[in-house]
Amino acid sequence: MKTSKNPKQIRQPSVKDARAKGDKKEAETQQSGEKGKKIYSLLRGMHDILPGEAKYWSLLYHTAENLADYFQYGRIDLPLIEEASLFVRSIGRATDVVEKEMYAFEDRDGAKVALRPEATASITRAYITHGMWNIPQPIKLWYWGPMFRYDRPQAGRYRQFNQVGFEALGDSNPVVDAELILVAYNFFRDIGLPVEMHVNSIGLPEERERYKTALVEYYRTKRGYLCDDCRRRLQKNPLRLLDCKQEQCQPIKEEAPQIIDWLGDESKNHLMKVLEYLDEVSVPYILRSTLVRGLDYYTRTVFEVYGTEGELGAQSALGGGGRYDLLVEMLGGRPSPSAGWALGLERVTAALKSYNEQKQISSPGKSPEIFFAQLGDQAKRRALKMINDLRGSGINISFNLSKNSLKSQLETANSLKVPFALILGQKEVQDGTVIVRDMESGVQEIADQRKAAGLLKRKLGKV
Ligand code: HAM
Repeated sequence: MKTSKNPKQIRQPSVKDARAKGDKKEAETQQSGEKGKKIYSLLRGMHDILPGEAKYWSLLYHTAENLADYFQYGRIDLPLIEEASLFVRSIGRATDVVEKEMYAFEDRDGAKVALRPEATASITRAYITHGMWNIPQPIKLWYWGPMFRYDRPQAGRYRQFNQVGFEALGDSNPVVDAELILVAYNFFRDIGLPVEMHVNSIGLPEERERYKTALVEYYRTKRGYLCDDCRRRLQKNPLRLLDCKQEQCQPIKEEAPQIIDWLGDESKNHLMKVLEYLDEVSVPYILRSTLVRGLDYYTRTVFEVYGTEGELGAQSALGGGGRYDLLVEMLGGRPSPSAGWALGLERVTAALKSYNEQKQISSPGKSPEIFFAQLGDQAKRRALKMINDLRGSGINISFNLSKNSLKSQLETANSLKVPFALILGQKEVQDGTVIVRDMESGVQEIADQRKAAGLLKRKLGKV
C-alpha cells in the first residue's frame, strides 16, 4: 500500500471535524419531503450558480480570455486534486489556508491528497513536471476554475469558490510585475468596476526575518493594549499583526515599523521600478505598507485589488497576488523567479452586481429585442419554425412556447421591456402573415412572414 511522505504533517479530513462540530446536520438533509423522502440541501459553504448569474460569469470569462489572448497568456487546466504536501510546502504550514482550511484526506490507496486551495502551487508543479524552463521565459499562463477552502462561510467566503488567475514564470524583471498588475487592472476596467490596486514589497526572506524581529520587539512593548487575536499573532505569525482591523490596535499599527525600511537596495529598487511602470500606464495604486498577504511563498512585490465604490468591493480583497521568486526552486525545480495573481470570481460578481444596481447599469449580456407571442396549436408549431429561422437575423428574441394565453405573453413582453412583439394566431398562420406590435404605443401592423426579419431589423435600427 502506498503511503504519504509526511503523514503526520497533514490534517485529517476536514469533513470529520465539521461533523464533530455538528455541521453534519447542515451537510445532510434538514427536512423530510413528501412521503418522508430525504430532501438534500447544499453542503455548508457551497453554492449553486444559477442562470440569473450566468451573464455575469460569462462577461468575466470572456474578459479574461480576451486579455489573455492580447497579453499572450496560454490557458492551462490542472487537476483539482494534488499531493497534499505540495500545498503544505508552498503555502506554508503555519498559514490559515493550510492549518485550518485545507480539504486534505487519504485516498483509497492511503495517499495524502488535497483539493486545491489555490492554483499557484499546482502551476509551479506543472512548470517543473513539464520542464518548462527549457522554453523561452517567461512562461505566461492563465487559469479559471474552482478552489476549495474549509473556511468559516460568510458573505463572499465559500468553501468551494472560483478563481481566475494569471501567472508569469521564469522572469525576475519588475516589468513582469507591472504587466500583471496592469492586466488585473484592465480586467476591472473592461467589466466596468472601479478598483484600486494596493501594492507593497515584503522583500526577501532574510529581509523579512529582520523586519519580523523589529516588529515583535515593538509590539511586545504594547502587549497589554492588544486584542486577543493580536496577542496570538505576536506568538505565531507576527506579520499578520498588520492585518488587524480591531479599533484598539489601530494606533499601535500606525506607529509600527514599516517593512520598506528593512528592504535591501535590490528589493527597494525592484519596488520603485514596478511603481514607475505603473505610473507610466496610469494604473492607480496605493502603496500600503501593512499589506503582507497570507501565503508564505511571496517575495518582494505583493498586491491586492479593492473596489473603490460600494461596500462589497471595499470590505475584502477582490483579488491578490505577487512575486514568488523562490517557489520553483523550493519544489525542486531550477531557480525560476515568478509572479502572478488570482481574483475571486464570486466576490467580483457580487461587487459588480451591486455596483451596477447602485448606478442603475443594466446587467451584462444581450437583452431581448423582440418577444414572440403565439396563440393556438397551429401557431405554436409555426412559431417554433419562425423562431428558428429568425436565429440568423441577429435579432435577440424571447418567447415562451408553453404559454397559451396571449395576455400573459404580452405581460412578459412588457416586463422584458422589449420595444416590439410579434404575434402569431390561427389567422396569421393561414395568411402567411404576422402581427408586429409596437409595445410602447400599442400600434400593430401586419407583415408578411417572409419579410418580418427585414422589417424588424429596420425598426430596430439594425440596417
Ligand atoms: P488569495 O488571496 O488566497 O491568493 O486568493 C485570491 C482571491 O480569491 C481573494 O482575493 C478572494 O477574492 C478569493 N478567495 C479566497 N478565498 C475565498 C473564499 N473562501 N471564498 C471566496 N473567495 C475567496 C491566492 O489564491 C494566490 N494563489 C494568488 C496568486 C496567484 N498569487 C500569485 N499567483
